[in-house]
Amino acid sequence: MKNLKNNSGLLYIPFVLILFILIYSCDNSKKEHVHEEEQPQQSETVDDHDDQEYIEEEHALFMEETREMLKKELGKKYNEPVKVATNEQIAQGKKIYNMYCAACHGPSGKGDGKAGESLTPKPADFTDAYHANFYSEQGRIFIIKKGIKGTGMAAWETALKDDEILAVYGYIKSLTDKDSNEKHQHQH
Ligand code: HEC
Repeated sequence: MKNLKNNSGLLYIPFVLILFILIYSCDNSKKEHVHEEEQPQQSETVDDHDDQEYIEEEHALFMEETREMLKKELGKKYNEPVKVATNEQIAQGKKIYNMYCAACHGPSGKGDGKAGESLTPKPADFTDAYHANFYSEQGRIFIIKKGIKGTGMAAWETALKDDEILAVYGYIKSLTDKDSNEKHQHQH
């Protein structure tokens, strides 16, 4: 019994140790963490959406709206057939075309005339079958008469008589490359 009493002080050693460990670890946790320097926010990747592509998408929508407008204006007439132009009409149409239309639509109808260079949208390319067939025949004749609001395409009904409009229409229709439908590469 005497021995036990003498050694009883030793029993406290583990508790004292634990106390020290606790105090030490508390002290450590108080130390401020060194914050990692925040990375500067990466600037958003530049929107490299191709301008040209954007214009084409916008323009495809614009053409759809124009077609809706033509259908509304013309009603049933929109899909009525137009008589195939005679060679005389085409010859007459060519003269009218060169005088009034070639400046924008280009000497061979590719939409590459000098006066059309700075226009948005660009003058229509009559040789491209996809675009040439986008509107109905009556629709295109209506466009020649009334123009397309918001574009460089003006109304010709005051400058040209009905038969002249039909003749020039016959001529631009004759410019369409019959094979270009298959060659058409645009994705709309
Ligand atoms: C000042 C330039 C300019 C002149 C001159 C001009 N156009 Fe246009 N034309 C345009 C533009 C721009 C468009 C719109 C193209 C589009 O929306 O894709 C257009 C569109 C058209 C369209 C509708 C698209 C299609 O292929 O069906 C027809 C048809 C057309 N023009 C015929 C003519 C005819 C015929 C003449 C001459 C009497 C003429 N244009 C004179 C600029 C011109």
